[in-house]
Amino acid sequence: MLRVENLRCGYGVVEALHGLSLRVDKGQIVTVIGANGAGKSTLIKTISRLIDVRGGTLKFEHHDLGARNAPEVVDLGIVQVPEGRQLFGPLTVHENLLLGFHRIRSRGKAALRERMEFVHDIFPRLHERAQQKAVTLSGGEQQMVALGRALMADPQLLLLDEPSLGLAPLIIDRIFEVLQQLRAQGLTMLLVEQRAQAALELADYGYVLALGKVVAEGTSKQLRGDAIVRKAYLGQSADVAEPAI
Ligand SMILES: Nc1ncnc2c1ncn2[C@@H]1O[C@H](COP(=O)(O)OP(=O)(O)O)[C@@H](O)[C@H]1O
Ligand SMILES: [Mg+2]
Repeated sequence: MLRVENLRCGYGVVEALHGLSLRVDKGQIVTVIGANGAGKSTLIKTISRLIDVRGGTLKFEHHDLGARNAPEVVDLGIVQVPEGRQLFGPLTVHENLLLGFHRIRSRGKAALRERMEFVHDIFPRLHERAQQKAVTLSGGEQQMVALGRALMADPQLLLLDEPSLGLAPLIIDRIFEVLQQLRAQGLTMLLVEQRAQAALELADYGYVLALGKVVAEGTSKQLRGDAIVRKAYLGQSADVAEPAI
């Protein structure tokens, strides 16, 4: 569904991704794990075409994303849950969710009701807090709004930039449970995460990113069994042969 080949991009004179290749097949959760500064957000922003492509190709189905701008990428159904939520604080939960529906507004009122019910079923809390200003919510609730807003757009491919960032473990579990549930419904996702363990538990396939390059890739099972990945990213001793999970 998404095919990234030899992608290069950066900021000013600094190159941040040095020839990155990855693919996401329909119905999969693919994760990109890596430390702070590895280039995870840069990758997500380049796919969303918020950052210029300097080399390589970006293909979504038969579309060349390199030739599209950010609104056109959203029109194709590639929807981002950005790092740090990026909500409109003074707006209510309901109003933030409505912004997500904008992409498919031509489907009309019945579709709006259907999407809103879908999101409220996943996160009943957002129904309870519909009239509350986003800025007054807890971090976990704000992440629910950010994910809910993306789901309102009925995405074909959901890009998630560290949805666990700054959240308590119980809330992270809930968010990852929801991602699992969405995958079971057929949603395709590219998840970038520093929390390698949790991301690999969820994902079908993973890439390890370091300093703008893919340094390892494989099925989640393969990566969880890889000695170097275990040592560097999973906080476990490299000499344990069998994955503990
Ligand atoms: N706006 C920017 N201007 C200049 N350099 C940036 C900018 N954003 C990120 N970078 C650099 O690009 C590299 C990758 O950053 P980023 O994609 O944010 O990493 P991650 O999301 O994995 O933490 C880092 O070296 C970072 O300093
Ligand atoms: Mg980041």
